[in-house]
Amino acid sequence: MSEPRPAADATVRIAPSLLSADFAQLDRQIALVEQAGADLLHLDIMDGHFVPNLSFGVPVVASVARCTPLPLDVHLMISEPGRYAAAFVKAGASGITFHIEVVERAPEIVKCIRDLGVRVGVALNPDTPADTIHEIISEVDLVLVMTVQPGFGGQRFRQDCMAKVRSIAEQLGPAQWLEVDGGIDADTAAIACAAGADTFVAGNAIYGAADPAEALKRIRRSARTSVARELER
Ligand code: DX5
Ligand code: ZN
Repeated sequence: MSEPRPAADATVRIAPSLLSADFAQLDRQIALVEQAGADLLHLDIMDGHFVPNLSFGVPVVASVARCTPLPLDVHLMISEPGRYAAAFVKAGASGITFHIEVVERAPEIVKCIRDLGVRVGVALNPDTPADTIHEIISEVDLVLVMTVQPGFGGQRFRQDCMAKVRSIAEQLGPAQWLEVDGGIDADTAAIACAAGADTFVAGNAIYGAADPAEALKRIRRSARTSVARELER
């Protein structure tokens, strides 16, 4: 079992999602968030099967890896994560997150990703209960709680997922990350942070903003303020 997690972790990580970036100028779009202090780059892989949308695949991840030192947080919204995980690692992923909804034997996929030498994450859709990851929660490096139905950027944050964030936060050790993804902006990051999230994916709120660098910094400030309030309690 992992050690108990502190009530409020002072760490805040911001992971801009490239899904909302301008793909015709990805290098500049990446440099922008890199200079603004992004901690990770979040890459959304969609197969048109697990989610009703397509995004990009291995060659794009490989190109992105060549143009940034940022760790690549690869979110597989695909039906067969075990089939493609190695290719994404070879392309430069530093972490692979699979969805619990698509796997029958979760410990096997955790081991498969672990053996590839990268961080292992498990994601849950908004309506997937926290106890579905019971068997592997102590084995993963990251739990990703979706705060929208996966498939599209720019959707509205689901505050009803915060009870699940709180419940998972109580079960994680200090080295495990709790990521939220979907509808995250400065306001919703503060809400998710107060519930126990420490890693914030944001697509539209950063790349859809007139000043993406300032938008990223605002999300971080807002989450940090929320952490500070928790620590004062
Ligand atoms: C949604 C993806 C998200 C998406 C978030 O299925 O997993 O990472 O890019 O986009 P926003 O921040 O616009 O909700
Ligand atoms: Zn994502």
